[in-house]
Amino acid sequence: MTKSSAPGKIILFGEHAVVYGRPALAVPVTQVHADVDILDSARAGIWIDAPEVNLRAELNTLPSDHPIASVINNLFFLRRVSPFPNLEIKISSTIPVASGLGSGAAVTVALTRAVAAHLGFPMTDEEVNAFSYEIEKLYHGTPSGIDNTVVTYARPVYFMKNAPIQTFKVGQPFTLVIADTGISALTKEAVEDVRRLWMNERSRWETVFDKIGEISFTARRAIEAGKNELLGELMNENHGYLQKMTVSSPELDRLVEAALHAGAVGAKLSGGGRGGNMIALVEPEKAEAISLSLKRAGAKHTILTQVL
Ligand code: PMV
Repeated sequence: MTKSSAPGKIILFGEHAVVYGRPALAVPVTQVHADVDILDSARAGIWIDAPEVNLRAELNTLPSDHPIASVINNLFFLRRVSPFPNLEIKISSTIPVASGLGSGAAVTVALTRAVAAHLGFPMTDEEVNAFSYEIEKLYHGTPSGIDNTVVTYARPVYFMKNAPIQTFKVGQPFTLVIADTGISALTKEAVEDVRRLWMNERSRWETVFDKIGEISFTARRAIEAGKNELLGELMNENHGYLQKMTVSSPELDRLVEAALHAGAVGAKLSGGGRGGNMIALVEPEKAEAISLSLKRAGAKHTILTQVL
């Protein structure tokens, strides 16, 4: 049996501006993960069992543009695998879908690593990341690549499009509460709307993206130096810019307000916006109370995570 696992992720700073070449910071969320198990099988075919998405099917019966079929077929094509082996592939995930926690990227990365290892051609992180980015592009329009990168390396990442990958060290661990609005929103649509704003008023939005880029840069320095107290203000500032970009929503704003009111050091939406998750930076002893306040303010569920 071959096993592989990949964590969820959360964007700390810089979403949307990252699409325009500015830096963003993202960290793995190890409390949630996608897991893949592969077994050789006596039964003909490649059987996929993914209970969370109600999928139990043989590879050839899936539409060719199905994300799971794309990963397997493209890998087999690239590595010239022929004839196809008989396999049982079990895919499970605890990462909420369509909420900015990187569930798609985590399934792609775990599945890619497991298939490659099982067939005897293990891939390096660089190869897994490049392949997963190609798969992300099939489903998310013009993704920056931040999701597949942080999920592949499972380390904090300072990400800039078309630049070498930079992972970084956390000087002092810090605690986040991640709260889900329960609203699933398509990142692709939010990205397209921001593009329309940018097309109409380029210089205004370039200035906003620059400011967000500076926030990401400053935040990375603060995190590396263990000066976590600076992060709260940067989060609040970043959220303000995301509101201007129209990617927040009443539900996200309500959760951000509730977190700050309950004593969070800072809070912002995370990811594509419009729905999905927000994050609050909290002192560890206040994490439970803030999580409760977020649920009272409408959060469907919360995750407490330590960034190490
Ligand atoms: O919604 P998420 O967590 O997949 O993040 C999207 C981040 C964006 O910057 C909005 C888009 C991208 O491709 O980087």
